[in-house]
Amino acid sequence: MKILVLLGSPRKKDSYNVCKMIESKMRKKGSVTFEYIHLSTLNIRECKGCNLCLQKGEEYCSIKDDITELRDKMIKADGIIFASPVYACHITSTFKKVIDRLAYLFHRPKLIGKPALNIITTGGGARKVTGKYLKMTACGWGCNLVGTISIISPMFFEDNNMYSSKYYNKINKYTDKLVEEFYNKINNYELPKPSFYDIYMFNGLRSKTYMSEVDYSYWENKGWLNSNYYYKTKINIFKKTFGKILSYMIKKAFNKMQNNGTTRQG
Ligand SMILES: Cc1cc2nc3c(=O)[nH]c(=O)nc-3n(C[C@H](O)[C@H](O)[C@H](O)COP(=O)(O)O)c2cc1C
Repeated sequence: MKILVLLGSPRKKDSYNVCKMIESKMRKKGSVTFEYIHLSTLNIRECKGCNLCLQKGEEYCSIKDDITELRDKMIKADGIIFASPVYACHITSTFKKVIDRLAYLFHRPKLIGKPALNIITTGGGARKVTGKYLKMTACGWGCNLVGTISIISPMFFEDNNMYSSKYYNKINKYTDKLVEEFYNKINNYELPKPSFYDIYMFNGLRSKTYMSEVDYSYWENKGWLNSNYYYKTKINIFKKTFGKILSYMIKKAFNKMQNNGTTRQG
């Protein structure tokens, strides 16, 4: 089982140590290989904003660097860990640059069902907003997100009082639970039943097909234009109805936009 770790920190410290802890917990369960990608060491340039990847296809991007190799590694991995410290209330700019360059994955997801785990380390603040963003990214790319471990580093790594040791034990227990789930999801691979959030993302992302020919063709070839989800699976009546209502509302909003003169771009 091959796990790819994307690290957004410029240094090998808190988030790296959390990933190493996860690695050692997973090794106890079976044979695993971890590949650590320190994103700051890759040659990945900033998006130039030409929009060609979204409007025509990612192959039209004029920047030739390590981004495609990184994407292909993600596609090939059995599971992915996305790890970033909080910098100024968000993920690091290094990580954001990678996500910007892969923005087309929100339009044409290529990681459907891929088990993923998010790690966030912080001095104490912005865990929620950063966690929410990384969740949206992993799910937007199609991953089967097991959960997020967000850690207040000073309380976790500096065990200097009773309060921090309680905190350490709590996080450690939660990490055990998520590692177990992550390992089992990869080991007994089966596509998961979508949550309400997944259905919401699926329908939201499908709306891109109203605006872009390349997105439309991609979703059409995948058979997703009229489906309830990315793949056939049992979806309960509440989630199905939720999806249908969302889809109806999005279509209606698009028709309104079209009447105002906005059309699909090729
Ligand atoms: C430039 C910079 C900005 C930071 N901004 C925040 C922040 O906004 N909120 C916070 O709680 N911690 C912040 N931190 C603390 C880091 O999130 C924290 O130390 C984290 O554990 C570092 O993880 P790492 O060792 O993997 O880089 C910041 C640290 C740096 C270096």
